Amino acid sequence: MAKNNTIEIENDYTPLTYDPQYILMVNRLKKYFPIKGGMISKTVGYVKAVDGVSFNLKRGTTMGLVGESGCGKTTLGRTVLRLSGEKTGGQVLFNGQEVYDLSAKEMRALRTKMQIIFQDPFSSLSPRLPVGEIIGEAVREHGLVPKEEFNDYIDRVMDNCGLQPFHKDRYPHEFSGGQRQRICIARALALNPEFVVCDEPVSALDVSIQAQIINLLRELQEKYKLTYLFISHDLSVVEHISDSVGVMYLGNLVEYGTTEDIFARPLHPYTEALFSAIPIPDPDAKMNRIILKGSIPSPANPPLGCKFHTRCEKCMDVCKYAAPEWTEVEDGHFCACHLYNDSEAQSRAEAAAKAAVDAGGAEEEKETAEYVSRKKERAEAARRG
Ligand SMILES: Nc1ncnc2c1ncn2[C@@H]1O[C@H](COP(=O)(O)OP(=O)(O)OP(=O)(O)O)[C@@H](O)[C@H]1O
Ligand code: SF4
Ligand SMILES: [Mg+2]
Repeated sequence: MAKNNTIEIENDYTPLTYDPQYILMVNRLKKYFPIKGGMISKTVGYVKAVDGVSFNLKRGTTMGLVGESGCGKTTLGRTVLRLSGEKTGGQVLFNGQEVYDLSAKEMRALRTKMQIIFQDPFSSLSPRLPVGEIIGEAVREHGLVPKEEFNDYIDRVMDNCGLQPFHKDRYPHEFSGGQRQRICIARALALNPEFVVCDEPVSALDVSIQAQIINLLRELQEKYKLTYLFISHDLSVVEHISDSVGVMYLGNLVEYGTTEDIFARPLHPYTEALFSAIPIPDPDAKMNRIILKGSIPSPANPPLGCKFHTRCEKCMDVCKYAAPEWTEVEDGHFCACHLYNDSEAQSRAEAAAKAAVDAGGAEEEKETAEYVSRKKERAEAARRG
């Protein structure tokens, strides 16, 4: 257990054994942002943006990452790339190497191998540099190609990304949204990366342009054997581009599996609800949309037990007090939900729930229920006048 200021943070994990088929292995990864309070700016709590996430990503494949706004997708992507300061707990192995054990010099070398593409291409491009410079800046800094080959290299990268090399003296504002995203892709690709986090790369673009950018990402993946972590709100895009999908809720992965399994047989009630909103192209088919009640709770004060229990239609007593285990329900299809417990996990969950109740969890639940009912009564009285 790590002590950070005055609040204790659990950092419990079984260290990973490296498996070379995976470019990225993430184990119980945590990233908490401190909440400061009081006169001396003491840490009074944490925003648990990423709260014990585990997955393995195969080389040359794409993992889609979905979930409601604020569930921690961007923080997970940035923490994997070590772009968000220190991690709070867990492991990130890139090609078997713990990313957070590297020195500043080693990290700088690794930066070329791990890149990120953002949602808003305009704000991530310097308005004062011509695109040739934007794409080539880091190439020059890392000395990736000899000086005499630099211009040809940038032309080639631009060409590969569907940009006209003779446009390299133009500035970002002279390009359309789709072209600007191509510039961002070219900038990332120029460094010859192995792994790219694509954070909502097409959300800000028109639908017709989205398809072009998705196709470009796929072509480049095939050509350069790239691995992507593809963050998106758009489930149709995720289905189209991903080999595997992770579903995130309030800092945790609640389900992970192949795209086929996740879309054909979603296990977790949250995934079911999320996917029930996908429009069906057949006008005669009936959509059984599951409307999620309430909004996503605060990651600074997540619910006890299963974090989804306050919104889950299938919530059982045990869900309110014991967090479900991350379980491989089918081959390669993982889920964290008490509905899929085997008898041993069920006993552990019941024991954990009992311990939480004995430690005061029941009181907390009771107090919350009483508070809600008092509030309802007052609202009802106010309505009646
Ligand atoms: N630097 C930070 N300091 C404090 N809290 C942060 C910081 N970055 C993110 N958070 C919080 O962490 C949580 C997760 O944020 P994050 O941006 O990762 O969500 P997201 O899933 O990417 O959302 P969106 O779909 O809207 O992009 C949010 O509650 C957010 O307010
Ligand atoms: S653990 Fe319980 S509350 Fe959580 S998703 Fe499963 S059934 Fe719903
Ligand atoms: Mg985000």
